[in-house]
Amino acid sequence: MRKIIIANWKMNLTPNQSADLVVEFKKKLGKENNNEVVICPSFTALSIVAEKIKKSNIILGSQNVSWMAKGAFTGEESISSIKELGCKYAIVGHSERRQNLGETDEMINKKISICLEKGITPIFCIGETLQEKQEGTSDHKLYTQIKEGLKKIDLLPHENLVVAYEPIWAISAVRAVTPHDVEPEEAEKVFKFIYQNLVDLWPLTIVNNNVRIIYGGSVDENNSKDFGQIEMINGFLVGGASLDADKFSQITKNI
Ligand code: 13P
Repeated sequence: MRKIIIANWKMNLTPNQSADLVVEFKKKLGKENNNEVVICPSFTALSIVAEKIKKSNIILGSQNVSWMAKGAFTGEESISSIKELGCKYAIVGHSERRQNLGETDEMINKKISICLEKGITPIFCIGETLQEKQEGTSDHKLYTQIKEGLKKIDLLPHENLVVAYEPIWAISAVRAVTPHDVEPEEAEKVFKFIYQNLVDLWPLTIVNNNVRIIYGGSVDENNSKDFGQIEMINGFLVGGASLDADKFSQITKNI
């Protein structure tokens, strides 16, 4: 499977700023990239970014999606809408939504189900807090997030999933307050643990062919070289550094 590098622009750019950044990034990326590159702007910027990436290899993704198909859900966005705008991916269960907006494993499970049912590949985010890491409960947290998030989901041969391991303590906004670095060797151990949990759920061929496990948390143009050497890491989910066209295009080349 091709590696995948995903830009999560979070709530940092207006639609016009998003359009400018994607145009700049498109020029830097060029045509010779073997990896899959996905941009996830905010909902209001999806249309304009979709317009700008026409005739390029860049793929569109959303930062969230509702678990309901349609109806009285003020402020939510449906799968049909993001599909109509050209999204192929949707980030589901980002830690910022889990922590600040009360998103639960149950909601995430429903979102993953509807994404798969409607042909959108979910980018399923998991990760532990600094406290959980220090208390030695990281494995339990990841196990629970995987078990609950993927409950009753049978990944079929025509469906794909991206699992993004983002230790919350390594995400730049959190790291600015409590600085801790993730060593690539440490990340590799966690990747093996996640992989094993997926193998416990689904046939090996499905896990090997249809699931990519990627890393997120302060990935930049420098540390992506080391993380990129780890065979089990199938890509990156990038926040801060994806807001800089030079840095993000360099990251896409470092794996
Ligand atoms: P940073 O790359 O800014 O740490 O953000 C990571 C992230 O949350 C991507 O989803």
